[in-house]
Amino acid sequence: MTDGTIPMTTSGGCQNNHGVIYTSKEILELGIPSSDPIPEPKTCKYCGKTLYHECIVLAGKALVWRLNEPQRCDCEQSKAFWVRWEKEQEEQKKAEAERQAQEERKQKIDSILGKSGIRQRFLSRTFDSFKLTSENEQAYDIAFEYVHNWDKHKANGEGLLFEGSCGTGKTHLAVAISLALIQQGVPVVCKTSIDMLSDIKQCYQKDSTVSEEEVVGVYKTVDLLTIDDLGKEQATDWSVSVLYNIINERYEAMLPTIITTNYKTSALIDRLSAKGDKETASAIVSRFVESSHRVTMAWEDYRRKR
Ligand SMILES: Nc1ncnc2c1ncn2[C@@H]1O[C@H](COP(=O)(O)OP(=O)(O)OP(=O)(O)O)[C@@H](O)[C@H]1O
Ligand SMILES: [Mg+2]
Ligand SMILES: [Zn+2]
Repeated sequence: MTDGTIPMTTSGGCQNNHGVIYTSKEILELGIPSSDPIPEPKTCKYCGKTLYHECIVLAGKALVWRLNEPQRCDCEQSKAFWVRWEKEQEEQKKAEAERQAQEERKQKIDSILGKSGIRQRFLSRTFDSFKLTSENEQAYDIAFEYVHNWDKHKANGEGLLFEGSCGTGKTHLAVAISLALIQQGVPVVCKTSIDMLSDIKQCYQKDSTVSEEEVVGVYKTVDLLTIDDLGKEQATDWSVSVLYNIINERYEAMLPTIITTNYKTSALIDRLSAKGDKETASAIVSRFVESSHRVTMAWEDYRRKR
């Protein structure tokens, strides 16, 4: 010992940038002074081997004890345990990072679109309040399964297309899905196509605090976009190109979209065709037909039943 440092022992004492790491056994054997009491060793619960704590030695003194983590045993069972443990930690970290990223995406959406999202009068449209009949049972099951297997549907970019006549519960189920996923923390935007387009138009106002790119950006990138009543809006060159832009971008990025509409595919293309431009309208419709499960809901109007 010439310069006051402690030589490496054969059993440990590895150098890192901040000092040398020793086990409590080595500290005792070498008589290195410790600022804190030297922790009692533990035993491996699998093989019974004695496991010593480690500490960092700086300037000849044991300074920082790693109290929470004694040495890891090198027996097979213990190694397998630590592999599992590290995998779990990794998964937890990933889940936490995803949760945080989701939260940030939601806050960004709120700051651009305002908190409103789903209108007050829609809030009662939950799975619980949906009355089952022999006709609507299958549609309900599909909607319910969609929420249950959201991760899979999201990964595959799969959406839903609820088509059918008035008052059959299309909006009810689309909103129920959206609300259930919002409750799980998923960033969701759920709007009628008319409201979506009017949000974008608002950006052209002089006093608008958000830009068109920001609003369109939300529609393009939100985890789930639910467009209610597609085809009800007045089709113009502008509306068709905006809708195409959004739906195409989501399709390419494999982001799911849920749509409700009163129109069958060919009628929807007509509805979306501004000045007879069927090409863009067909492109829009074929995009989401390809990426969505189609659910036809055609039976008596629930509003009339009551
Ligand atoms: N099975 C059901 N159980 C309970 N309420 C229902 C059911 N089906 C529809 N409703 C209610 O009836 C009303 C009309 O339903 P909804 O708005 O979902 O119909 P829709 O298919 O979207 O009709 P439209 O094509 O006119 O938009 C809503 O208040 C909805 O909550
Ligand atoms: Mg509806
Ligand atoms: Zn062991």
